[in-house]
Amino acid sequence: MAILGTKPVSDEEVGLLASEHSEEVEDQGTSTLRPATLVAAVVTIFLMSGCLISLYTYSQSDHDSSEEYSLESLTKPKYPLNFLVVGDWGREGAYNQTLVAKQMGKVGRHLGIKFVISVGDNFYQAGLKGPQDPKFKNSFSKVYTAESLQTQWLAVLGNHDYLGDALLQIGDGLTRKDKRWFCDRFYQLKYPLCGSHNLGHCEKFVELFFIDTTPFVDKYWDAEQARTFDWRGIGPRQEYLDSQLKNLSLALESSTATWKIVVGHHTIRSLGRHGETPELVKSVLPILESHNVDVYINGHDHCLEHIKREDSAVHFVTSGAGSKSFQGLREGTTEEGLQFGYDGQGFISVSMAAQVLRIDFHDALGNNLYELNLKK
Ligand SMILES: *[C@@H]1O[C@H](CO)[C@@H](O)[C@H](O)[C@H]1NC(C)=O
Ligand SMILES: *[C@@H]1O[C@H](CO)[C@@H](O)[C@H](O)[C@H]1NC(C)=O
Repeated sequence: MAILGTKPVSDEEVGLLASEHSEEVEDQGTSTLRPATLVAAVVTIFLMSGCLISLYTYSQSDHDSSEEYSLESLTKPKYPLNFLVVGDWGREGAYNQTLVAKQMGKVGRHLGIKFVISVGDNFYQAGLKGPQDPKFKNSFSKVYTAESLQTQWLAVLGNHDYLGDALLQIGDGLTRKDKRWFCDRFYQLKYPLCGSHNLGHCEKFVELFFIDTTPFVDKYWDAEQARTFDWRGIGPRQEYLDSQLKNLSLALESSTATWKIVVGHHTIRSLGRHGETPELVKSVLPILESHNVDVYINGHDHCLEHIKREDSAVHFVTSGAGSKSFQGLREGTTEEGLQFGYDGQGFISVSMAAQVLRIDFHDALGNNLYELNLKK
């Protein structure tokens, strides 16, 4: 697959790989590198330095008693990699977005997070209008103000983002306004999972694969709806979808990561208001299953969920509760595999070591509602 940057990352290196697809947006078929190359390089450096200083923060955080945070599970042993995932958030602080942000700041500080993932629907109601849209500041920079959240953000686009200027969100203009911001359609991130003692030679790592799910959904392409979506750079649609599926398969197949996590906006399995996304069940799910993906993390439904069905090895985690929630959650049957569901605001934290992947589900008031533990 195409690598954005100069060389593929090695097993011992942290790096951000992204497809060069977005080049086509401004520049059909030529080989000029667009500014996102620089963004990716900066992100790579940022994450590399994050990794190098992790040894320091790792031992520091054990003695950090200044933050009183009494969540029982968070007092468990610290892992080499911690990050947060929030989705469906940008409402200029309303609908408890600010409250969720505050809790994210506390948990982020306690865990010593390395980055924050946004699973899309970054800006309501209709994405960002243009570079001067105050929503970027009012929904992002001025809301996620806690110290621990001043780290790299890694975002994908949701359907609401496509109702505004989608290219703006994936370009480097926003990163110049707030250096935390990185968003693209299809990219990867590798992070080592060794403890502080063997950072120099680490063979265990997690690989995250970010995908662009909105173009898969048929109804957004109906004559009436298609006009409202910013499909620049996507067409011809079928070619784009095929190319993304092929790139995802190839990337997963060649990955030697201990843990593989795929991140997208739309649900695959969900008992929330939107429910499943049949297009993804049909085209993406078989790829996840055949390449032993451990977890698929999404937003779109404004709730927190963990679904694990008997007919699949993949764990489905919804974290789409960054602001407006309480939209209804169906009770799951055994077949539907609902292990946990919370119909309210919150976010998740992911804590990883070579043999452990732990996901904690947090509400907006600081309660740790549920914990998922996977082991290898
Ligand atoms: C998939 O990879 C190819 C070749 O590396 C690239 O040209 C294309 O843009 C990628 N597709 C997507 C959807 O990212
Ligand atoms: C904000 O959160 C509190 C606590 O979860 C909840 O009771 C309240 O209804 C929420 N407000 C909105 C607008 O969702």
